[in-house]
Amino acid sequence: MPIITNITDLKALYRRRVPKMFYDYAESGSWSEQTFRENVTDFADIHLRQKVAVDMSGRSTASTMVGQDVAMPVALAPVGLTGMQSADGEIKAAKAAEAFGVPFTLSTMSICSIEDVAAEVTKPFWFQLYVMKDRDYINDLIDRAKAAKCSALVLTLDLQILGQRHKDVKNGLGAPPKLTLKNILNMATKPRWVMGMLGTKRHEFRNIVGHVNNVENMGTLAEWTAKQFDEKLSWDDVAWIKERWGGPLILKGILDVEDARRAVETGADAIVVSNHGGRQLDGAMSAIRMLPDIIDAVGDRIEVHMDSGIRSGQDVLKALALGAKGVYIGRAYIYGLGAMGQEGVTKALEVIHKELDTTMAFCGRQKVTELNRENLLVPEDFRGRFERA
Ligand code: GLV
Repeated sequence: MPIITNITDLKALYRRRVPKMFYDYAESGSWSEQTFRENVTDFADIHLRQKVAVDMSGRSTASTMVGQDVAMPVALAPVGLTGMQSADGEIKAAKAAEAFGVPFTLSTMSICSIEDVAAEVTKPFWFQLYVMKDRDYINDLIDRAKAAKCSALVLTLDLQILGQRHKDVKNGLGAPPKLTLKNILNMATKPRWVMGMLGTKRHEFRNIVGHVNNVENMGTLAEWTAKQFDEKLSWDDVAWIKERWGGPLILKGILDVEDARRAVETGADAIVVSNHGGRQLDGAMSAIRMLPDIIDAVGDRIEVHMDSGIRSGQDVLKALALGAKGVYIGRAYIYGLGAMGQEGVTKALEVIHKELDTTMAFCGRQKVTELNRENLLVPEDFRGRFERA
């Protein structure tokens, strides 16, 4: 068993242990993957300000996200098909998050259903909503999240249609996976994964199958989204969703200052500055580069979170110091889940926590809530010299 010291170690093990089609699903961006890459590389443009001879005892990474206590302001992002990365993956991730004291967000496109996860955890988790054309189904889904006592609704606004990820099309990605000869041969090299999957009955999108009339087999992910997701989703829809839900509402997928201002008007509790991990509009700016402008525009009126590109505790610190109140990790915990199940998610959280805590100390802060732009050295043109044409 290799010694795991960072997220990259988990990724290497994940790659060995999980079928290629699910590794490819997680590890892809859309089209040329420019945004997917820049989400990560743009963090390196921000440097940290080292401070010495500062009392670094009694440190704390505790904070709050939408008024809820968190051991560190790092939530697990909603990730589709998590239960295909490891058997019952959503339950494993939710348990690891609960034990660590951070929020777990269940995707609409999960394998384990809201009810499956609720039966296995003791504290509330968050639910991410995709809006489909069938409004009865969406109302029912919101009611199911309420009944399961989910403590925040994360409404995704940047995926009415799916950005094309070439590998998913070529792999025929779906759940359960298509049993082509190529896929079977690849799965045969992943005995740990196969054994896990044989030990659970959860192999399909259980928030959907059995809840939407006439849906027994959803085909590929791309086919399902093209058929069912609501292309007409608009800002007006946020109002009825907010009303039906009645609890903390987080709007995910904001990457533009004007959209951020519009989000504030909805009365939502938080926004997530995000480009969906580079999986939607390829060529969009990285989330970390858009974060300062959005914070400056609306940060005093709404809680601003961010995701897309976080692979270390140092990345977390940079986002927080720029003014984000919390961040989300997606791939970073999926690597852990695929590598080592629940234990691997815990490992990912431990790695990130340690990096965050140590970096905070070197930057001369005892509390994560004290971080601010004084802790960073940001190039003058970091926000980009872009003008509207
Ligand atoms: C969402 O479901 C995605 O694949 O990004």
